[in-house]
Amino acid sequence: MIDLAGKTAVVTGGSRGIGRAAALTLAAAGARVVVADRSDHRAPAETSTSGEIVRRGGSASSVPLDVTDPDAVSSTFAAIEAEHGIDVLVNNAGVLVSGSLTDTSDEDWHRQMRVNVDGTFYCMRAAVSAMLAAGRPGKVVNVASISGLRANPGFSAYCTSKFAMIGMTRQAGIDYAAHGINVNAVAPGFVETDMTAIYDAPVRRALEGQTPNGRWASPQQIADTILYLSSSLSDHVVGEVVAVDGGWLVATPVQVGA
Ligand SMILES: NC(=O)c1ccc[n+]([C@@H]2O[C@H](COP(=O)([O-])OP(=O)(O)OC[C@H]3O[C@@H](n4cnc5c(N)ncnc54)[C@H](O)[C@@H]3O)[C@@H](O)[C@H]2O)c1
Repeated sequence: MIDLAGKTAVVTGGSRGIGRAAALTLAAAGARVVVADRSDHRAPAETSTSGEIVRRGGSASSVPLDVTDPDAVSSTFAAIEAEHGIDVLVNNAGVLVSGSLTDTSDEDWHRQMRVNVDGTFYCMRAAVSAMLAAGRPGKVVNVASISGLRANPGFSAYCTSKFAMIGMTRQAGIDYAAHGINVNAVAPGFVETDMTAIYDAPVRRALEGQTPNGRWASPQQIADTILYLSSSLSDHVVGEVVAVDGGWLVATPVQVGA
């Protein structure tokens, strides 16, 4: 039984998709959740993630945050720390830029890196600094991707950003382990969210065909691993990347008799 009562979790990009599922799941385990997102604070309480948590009897608020803005990250995290103390950070905010290297403009490259790499760095630095200053243990879960462990044709900037997130996870994992701060990552495979709505039916079928269990994940299935990595059950897991991908990374892409 995972009990996060008395803990405060910050979930970036928690307005929808994996972030929303993570926020709802952490709240259901008893955490107070702060949804730090570009839009959740603007959504009506009937549809916002924090509104849904409160309706279910949990404790949550939404704060406006663009993770690419270092000053905004600093001041937002300082305010959350002062009010509640940060125990868990889920670095989930992300964007997907497609294109091979030669098709990627400077602008797209930097947009990809600003959100996925710089944003993860700014938020992790702010949360871990607060934990260290308070002498408090904590958990950081970075939402990486199978594209951070294997190259993915046509997603050059995205893969690069996710490889960087995994590098940051491993490095911060070892740097802060002795302080009782666990930094780990989850590497989702293909997940049913707005981000993957870019794939049409034939591409979807092909991707399902490459996945040993034949299915995409629900956001909830990723949130369940985020919950584990946010809890004391993972206290001895350091700088690790947990794939939740239906076996995609394990498989060899060979089709016999096809
Ligand atoms: N969907 C998948 O198949 C899949 C697979 C592997 C990894 N991921 C990763 O999971 C994470 C969530 O993806 P998703 O599928 O739920 O995507 P999504 O597009 O549904 O949600 C992304 C969230 O990030 C927020 N966001 C984007 N830019 C932001 C910024 N600058 N500041 C603050 N918030 C920002 C959005 O508001 C949104 O809430 C991403 O990091 C993504 O790369 C997704």
